[in-house]
Amino acid sequence: MKLSTVLPLAVLACAGSGLAVLSPEPDYQQLFAERDVDAAAQFLERRQQGIGGAGQNGPGYQTVPSVPFNGDDSLPYSPPFYPTPQTKGTSQKWKDAIGKAREYLQQFNQTEKVILTTGSGWERGPCVGNISPIPRVGFPGLCLMDGPAGVRGTDRVTSFPDAITAAASFDRDLFYKRAHALGEEFKTKGANIWLGPMMNVARTPLGGRNWEGFGADPYLNGEGSYYSVLGAQDAGVQATLKHYINNEQEHFRNEGSSNLDSRTEREIYLHPFLRGVQAGAASVMCSYNLVNNSWACQNSELLNNRLKTELEFPGYVMSDWGAQHAGVASANAGLDMTMPGDVLCCSLQEGSLWGGNLTTAVNNGSVATTRLDDMATRILAGWFLLGQDQGYPKANFNFFDKKDPATNQHVDATADHDKIAREVASAGTVLLKNRRNALPLNKPGSMAVIGSDAGPLYQGANYWPDRAQNGGLPYGTLGQGWGSGSTDYSYFFSPYEALQSRARKDRTGIAWNFDDFNLAQSVMIANMTDVALVFVSAESGEGYITLDRNEGDRNNLTLWNQGEQLIRNVTAVNNNTIVIVHSTGAVDMESFAENPNVTAIVWANLPGSESGRALVDVLYGDYNPSGRLPYTIGKNRTDYGTDVLYYNDTVTPQINYTEALNIDYRYFDTKNIEPRYEFGFGLSYTKFAYSGAWTQQVGSADNSWWGSANASTGLPEWLFQPKYEVTFSLTNAGDWDGHEVWQAYLEFPRSAGEPPKVLRGFGREKISKYNTKEVKFHLSQYDVSTWCNDKQQWLQPEGKLKVLIGASSRDIRQAVVLN
Ligand SMILES: *[C@@H]1O[C@H](CO)[C@@H](O)[C@H](O)[C@H]1NC(C)=O
Ligand SMILES: *[C@@H]1O[C@H](CO)[C@@H](O)[C@H](O)[C@H]1NC(C)=O
Ligand SMILES: *[C@@H]1O[C@H](CO)[C@@H](O)[C@H](O)[C@H]1NC(C)=O
Ligand SMILES: *[C@@H]1O[C@H](CO)[C@@H](O)[C@H](O)[C@H]1NC(C)=O
Ligand SMILES: *[C@@H]1O[C@H](CO)[C@@H](O)[C@H](O)[C@H]1NC(C)=O
Ligand SMILES: *[C@@H]1O[C@H](CO)[C@@H](O)[C@H](O)[C@H]1NC(C)=O
Ligand SMILES: *[C@@H]1O[C@H](CO)[C@@H](O)[C@H](O)[C@H]1NC(C)=O
Ligand SMILES: *[C@@H]1O[C@H](CO)[C@@H](O)[C@H](O)[C@H]1NC(C)=O
Ligand SMILES: *[C@@H]1O[C@H](CO)[C@@H](O)[C@H](O)[C@H]1NC(C)=O
Ligand SMILES: *[C@@H]1O[C@H](CO)[C@@H](O)[C@H](O)[C@H]1NC(C)=O
Ligand SMILES: *[C@@H]1O[C@H](CO)[C@@H](O)[C@H](O)[C@H]1NC(C)=O
Ligand SMILES: *[C@@H]1O[C@H](CO)[C@@H](O)[C@H](O)[C@H]1NC(C)=O
Repeated sequence: MKLSTVLPLAVLACAGSGLAVLSPEPDYQQLFAERDVDAAAQFLERRQQGIGGAGQNGPGYQTVPSVPFNGDDSLPYSPPFYPTPQTKGTSQKWKDAIGKAREYLQQFNQTEKVILTTGSGWERGPCVGNISPIPRVGFPGLCLMDGPAGVRGTDRVTSFPDAITAAASFDRDLFYKRAHALGEEFKTKGANIWLGPMMNVARTPLGGRNWEGFGADPYLNGEGSYYSVLGAQDAGVQATLKHYINNEQEHFRNEGSSNLDSRTEREIYLHPFLRGVQAGAASVMCSYNLVNNSWACQNSELLNNRLKTELEFPGYVMSDWGAQHAGVASANAGLDMTMPGDVLCCSLQEGSLWGGNLTTAVNNGSVATTRLDDMATRILAGWFLLGQDQGYPKANFNFFDKKDPATNQHVDATADHDKIAREVASAGTVLLKNRRNALPLNKPGSMAVIGSDAGPLYQGANYWPDRAQNGGLPYGTLGQGWGSGSTDYSYFFSPYEALQSRARKDRTGIAWNFDDFNLAQSVMIANMTDVALVFVSAESGEGYITLDRNEGDRNNLTLWNQGEQLIRNVTAVNNNTIVIVHSTGAVDMESFAENPNVTAIVWANLPGSESGRALVDVLYGDYNPSGRLPYTIGKNRTDYGTDVLYYNDTVTPQINYTEALNIDYRYFDTKNIEPRYEFGFGLSYTKFAYSGAWTQQVGSADNSWWGSANASTGLPEWLFQPKYEVTFSLTNAGDWDGHEVWQAYLEFPRSAGEPPKVLRGFGREKISKYNTKEVKFHLSQYDVSTWCNDKQQWLQPEGKLKVLIGASSRDIRQAVVLN
């Protein structure tokens, strides 16, 4: 939908907030009223056909697994939207790529077009996903590889800091550089497609895969997505936006339905995908779950309408591994590529829901020839967009057999990426507490290093599959979450190793104990020691691995391996205890945050290969910390207002997003709940002052802020052009050079139905001591708009809009009203 044709630039009011989550929409009622037929029967039929509703039965196709419709019309429903629009591309780059794809496709016969759409099958090829070569037309095939933080399951690569760590840097330049380095490694290894970035929003702190994404705020996730796509694609690899959409928990990810209204969808969960499309992402991965009781990979409203019509996404949609449930229904709803291609992932059985079945379906008219052509065009366009037709390396490793001499060339892909990995890990380290000048460390005479989370991985860094550490027993420091988003470490500096080297330079005496359960030994070495560093952790991952009864999602917010008890015992004998946390998300810190003997708390996130070196840089002041929390750390699990749905009483568990817009800090603010550490919080070794904020309306000529040569969106351009310019000054008033991460939150008029504050701007400024810098940023019409469910449009609410500028979501230093 081209909104520019229906919406003038003037401010229009939205009648209602439209946040009544699970009530059927008017068009749904009308659908039945208009047709003079038994509504329920029709609904049932639609579902069985997989058209719009929960149905996953493509004509003639076996469904895997089957979710029977129980006739309950009160369940949320997804409206039909057909057919799939033909790709056209809005930027010149995309248009050129699509033109090349169309021309090349003329050489392909029908079988060969189908080959492009259908993965060759699990373990049938060197990569986690493979499209077979087609020698007759000279097509070399495609290699698809996990994961979001580096090339998975092979050697001589960098384990980059996970996205949640990058997010904590709040630095677009670092998002870009991390993804560029990572993209270079994918290319060197011969992987065409990077299965990242992942941008599912951390709706609940317990969500197992939150760490693969950029945290709990959609705007931050959107910037993470945008700059990661630009970085990776500039390095020549195709980026994949995932998981589309509402895959925010691991429990029931294959059978649960996420239910939410379209305003919440657009303002929170779709936004990062919009930004990824604007950055020119080649592909999108649809998720395992259902949305409004319709599988995400055959939900025509999500794929045909929101993604391919509203956002005019010109690339291709691939299924998550095994997320396709029917052949015809998915093809017609907008899926373009099935991965890994098997009927049932990853069964190793022959056959596919597409492949030969797609050929038959095209021949008998269930899937239009133009649809098959469009799938193939979209896939080839991604390949041409990145210039992968020109001498792109072939896969030179074997994901399924890492030691096979015939298929593994062990090519070194790491180059000098340790530098950027280390910088991102330092920039993503958040200093939460610092009393009595505990940090930075200044040549301490003696130091105790305590906790399994400080130490090396004693069976080797890659002993446990997909970094799922030892069933939850203490094992070694936590550098990544577990699951398909992990990488094999080619090297790994634990905190202990880096501290030991550094301590030697200062002639600091150092003692250690990595046994969390030998409290007496920890107490012994901490007693009478100048400083005690206690390392604690909490982890989560992807649901196919269960660790200490955590099925991907965490079961609780407490530290693992009795971290709290360890801190309690050490602080009893040492009044200069520094707590370092490695975690996939928020933990309960109430038992130690206010303890006066805990002089500092360092939130180190998930730093990857450079863990120890990056941490030492921060602890000793070689790197002045500036990281900020990309989510809220609450005092109590119930303070978040959201949780994982752990128990099902139906075959299709209903995951109701009843909190609507109120996730994370939005909920804490709405309910006026005091968190332990708020979203956006983090300390520095220096101090910054904010002053002189003012704003002006600017012309719509300058599009550079949103601009990208790759930009491609169905939303009208004017919506994204700068409308307001905000200026303020930042002064480094302390004694250290450093970076300040500033944040800008919008306060909408009450009637708009928004939470009290929503992030709409941030930046990380490098300012040397005693200096002042003028900072400018822009807000577009889109930034100051909310989605109106009634009108299905972005509209600027009536009334005064305020911009709140500060150092965190609760440390507002300047406010200006937009006129
Ligand atoms: C079309 O082909 C599919 C795939 O084999 C088959 O299962 C289905 O029954 C056919 N549909 C029609 C309408 O002939
Ligand atoms: C979700 O909402 C539906 C109504 O749409 C209701 O039937 C169901 O019980 C709710 N599920 C949960 C877990 O709250
Ligand atoms: C899900 O249903 C809600 C209303 O119940 C509606 O606002 C929303 O647009 C639907 N989403 C999809 C993807 O169909
Ligand atoms: C298409 O080309 C392949 C070779 O790539 C060949 O094996 C197949 O028979 C051809 N199919 C048709 C329908 O011409
Ligand atoms: C077609 O799909 C069925 C499952 O519905 C599967 O058993 C069969 O192997 C598929 N055929 C081909 C040629 O892939
Ligand atoms: C650890 O602290 C507990 C109290 O929390 C205490 O009972 C125990 O004796 C302490 N252990 C050591 C070794 O100090
Ligand atoms: C700490 O060391 C001092 C001095 O040696 C000793 O008196 C004290 O008992 C020790 N405390 C503990 C808890 O071991
Ligand atoms: C929370 O989960 C962790 C990991 O499974 C476990 O070690 C810990 O005992 C649990 N905490 C509580 C209070 O149950
Ligand atoms: C703090 O540490 C000192 C030892 O330096 C100890 O005497 C005191 O009890 C500790 N306080 C707390 C709250 O643990
Ligand atoms: C911390 O404990 C040491 C003895 O270990 C003592 O000299 C010092 O005064 C204490 N500092 C504070 C702030 O309590
Ligand atoms: C957390 O909240 C729950 C429910 O409001 C309450 O029962 C519990 O006491 C709280 N826990 C703490 C430590 O405050
Ligand atoms: C709950 O889900 C599990 C699979 O996760 C399934 O085996 C079970 O039958 C479901 N329970 C009900 C009542 O549907």
